[in-house]
Amino acid sequence: MQRLQRKRIVLGIGGGIAAYKSAELVRRLRDQGAEVRVVMTRAAREFITPLTLQALSGHPVFHDLLDPAAEAAMGHIELARWADLVLIAPATADLLARLAQGVADDLLTTLVLATDAPVALAPAMNQAMWRDPATQANAELLAARGLRLFGPAAGSQACGDVGPGRMLEADELAQRAADCFERGLLTGCRVLITAGPTQESIDPVRYITNHSSGKMGFALAEAAAEAGAVVTLVSGPVHLPTPQRVTRVNVVSARDMLAACEAAMPCDLLIAAAAVADYRPEVIATQKMKKDPGSDDGLQLRMVRNPDILATLAARADRPFSVGFAAETEKLLDYAARKLRDKNLDLIVANDVANPGIGFNSEDNAITIIDRQLTQNSFAQTSKGKIARQLIAFIAARLHQS
Ligand code: CTP
Repeated sequence: MQRLQRKRIVLGIGGGIAAYKSAELVRRLRDQGAEVRVVMTRAAREFITPLTLQALSGHPVFHDLLDPAAEAAMGHIELARWADLVLIAPATADLLARLAQGVADDLLTTLVLATDAPVALAPAMNQAMWRDPATQANAELLAARGLRLFGPAAGSQACGDVGPGRMLEADELAQRAADCFERGLLTGCRVLITAGPTQESIDPVRYITNHSSGKMGFALAEAAAEAGAVVTLVSGPVHLPTPQRVTRVNVVSARDMLAACEAAMPCDLLIAAAAVADYRPEVIATQKMKKDPGSDDGLQLRMVRNPDILATLAARADRPFSVGFAAETEKLLDYAARKLRDKNLDLIVANDVANPGIGFNSEDNAITIIDRQLTQNSFAQTSKGKIARQLIAFIAARLHQS
């Protein structure tokens, strides 16, 4: 299926090394049925020639605000009106700063101010530049104004660094562009999902954990992304691939998970599917612990309580719509209702982990959702993928009512 059929996309290209990927992006957008007009900044033309983009888009490239010939063909205001979507890839640190300031000193920045179409940015820059508080503040400001940020991804960079700042691949950008035209159940909604177990270290080689596979949380992340949400998935150690269009943050311990979740706030919806270790050893031995050769005594480990991630986030002033899981082996609905109240949740998903067909590590699940009025809604046993989609549809309906 061509997801961008007859959609008009202005592709803005900034001056970064990732500009070479923009040539491929033109092709991917056109593969999806889009009509593409390319606007390049002066710096972009140092990295890739307008001729390449003209050949790939099938149209002359726009780059000059004050070029009478170009203005006569299609003026910049006309181009701004023509667009169904303005996608800027790569969006450099400099472009983010100029857009955040509302500067209009070249064709691309002028066009962004002049258009009423959605604007999406694919940041691409060195990891330290991306992490810089100035860039972060600009990105946040632009996101708060409703511009969409696609990425950046983390990984190895052209400059040799490793970290966040890589432009998303052309295929993924084309899919994200297509998402802009589809109104899913959670379009525009920022969703934070915790998944998997946590590991609590005893010493450098040993840890305490549980049987959670992370499958339910990952299935929920995939279903939420399919529904149009912007999803951050904070996951403990699991062996699962990251669902498409989901930002994954890997963590190890409960305290790491809380810190990663706090960094991902604010969000509109929190789904806590992680099986967080309630306790951790009070001290982590710095060296591998050795047995006492002179004694057969057992080992006494003093454990201390871990923070409750869900309760902490649901207690914030900017609390999201909060959904918890109650994994129980007995008195399922009683315990679930108690957790709903104690953690100040909007919904709790009760899960009978004593049943081997639907518990930890299994492919299937069957759930009962309980709301604040203690009304119960049950979903019969099926694959975790299907349950996840049903659950996301249910949650989205409640979220929109709230
Ligand atoms: N949870 C959390 N942080 C914790 C413990 C639990 O965020 N430290 C979340 C889980 O992700 C889940 C819900 O709280 O959404 C309930 O988790 P569960 O392990 O069933 O219950 P606990 O609160 O740990 O209570 P208990 O172990 O006494 O059953």
